Amino acid sequence: MSNTGFSAREFVDLDRGRVHKTAYYDPEVYATEMQRIFERTWLYIAHASEIPEPGDYKTTELAGRPVIVVRGADGNIRVLQNRCRHRAASVCQAAKGNARFFRCEYHGWTYKNNGELVGVTYADAYKDLDKSQLGLQEVPRVETYQDFVFASHDADVEPLVEHLGEATKYIDLFVAQGAGRPLEAAYGTQKIKYEGNWKYQLENGCDGYHPNFAHRSFFRVMGERTGEDGLGSYMDGSAAAEALSLGRGHTLLDQRKTATSHYAERYKASPDVDSILDDLRKDLSEEQIGELLATSTSPGFNLTVFPNLQLIGLHIREIRPVSANETVVHYTPLAVSGVPDGINQLRMRNHELFYSAAGFGVPDDGEMFRRVSVAPARMPTGCCSHAVCTARRPEARSCRRRSPTRCLSEPNGRAGRN
Ligand code: FES
Ligand SMILES: [Fe+2]
Repeated sequence: MSNTGFSAREFVDLDRGRVHKTAYYDPEVYATEMQRIFERTWLYIAHASEIPEPGDYKTTELAGRPVIVVRGADGNIRVLQNRCRHRAASVCQAAKGNARFFRCEYHGWTYKNNGELVGVTYADAYKDLDKSQLGLQEVPRVETYQDFVFASHDADVEPLVEHLGEATKYIDLFVAQGAGRPLEAAYGTQKIKYEGNWKYQLENGCDGYHPNFAHRSFFRVMGERTGEDGLGSYMDGSAAAEALSLGRGHTLLDQRKTATSHYAERYKASPDVDSILDDLRKDLSEEQIGELLATSTSPGFNLTVFPNLQLIGLHIREIRPVSANETVVHYTPLAVSGVPDGINQLRMRNHELFYSAAGFGVPDDGEMFRRVSVAPARMPTGCCSHAVCTARRPEARSCRRRSPTRCLSEPNGRAGRN
């Protein structure tokens, strides 16, 4: 129980399948989620291929706190708080790089890349300074599964594989797209912000209901470019993908029975695909190209690892809540190492088509997240809108008295049931 003192049950009516809208924009709920979920569980933080060599690092955040993910001389990956032990300035400003030391620019204290404090300016002026106690603080738990690096602020969190549970099976299948070759985060990360709560992105990853409608223009254009009608199940009018709970908040949207060919063919709609294929044909037979592409297309499912990781298509998606109504999503497409460049170019074209900032899918979804955020967020606290109130919080009860005519939940403006 947090010191905010309310329970998730107050927002969810399991019998009726309803969730109260305040769960999606109330700052108090958001603060509680950060405290009870993000501060306590495993969070995805990096792909090991982003920091392959000793000294390689990237700066990022863990539950909103600035950290450095760094590979030490011993090959181990550590997650260090990016906060000087003198006056708490951040000690590393670059997004990524290679360093043996991090030197704080405020007063010049210097730390090894394993966090050890090795240099204090004008140290003689200090009385009883114990450098061994003033290293950069290390996030207590860091574990890796299939090159996906997770960390937790909670020293007592369960082992990572227990947290991942059933999701490990699908992480393995995702990694199998390389057919034994490692996957690499070789093309950087695209960051896209939307106006809405972090849970919208998380839930949308297993929403097989919306593509026929939110992404209709994509399927139409794909049909025009490839000359194929329908391109899989989405356009035949059915929502054939299967949504599964994997337990512990992890979910799967499984399209393998219906949409695999659709994914495999996507790259053909990219504008420069012919020249890439021509280049590949200089060194490879059609059969070899076909084999390489077959192992390099999407696994055909969306995996969500609660609370901040999705593996979708050919990319890693990291969800970073910023506030109750703002979220930044990091998209990191993966290359397959050891294959001709053209194969990875086709993978990237395939990824960009739907998932880049100017692609067909990401802007559609971001706009929908904004639309479902704007109206409820403008309602009086506790008032009902798209969901029936199940809240028993005092302000929810008072809403009916305070401003019932502003409620949109019913045509005549009456508040829904509290
Ligand atoms: S804050 Fe880092 S040396 Fe003073
Ligand atoms: Fe979508």
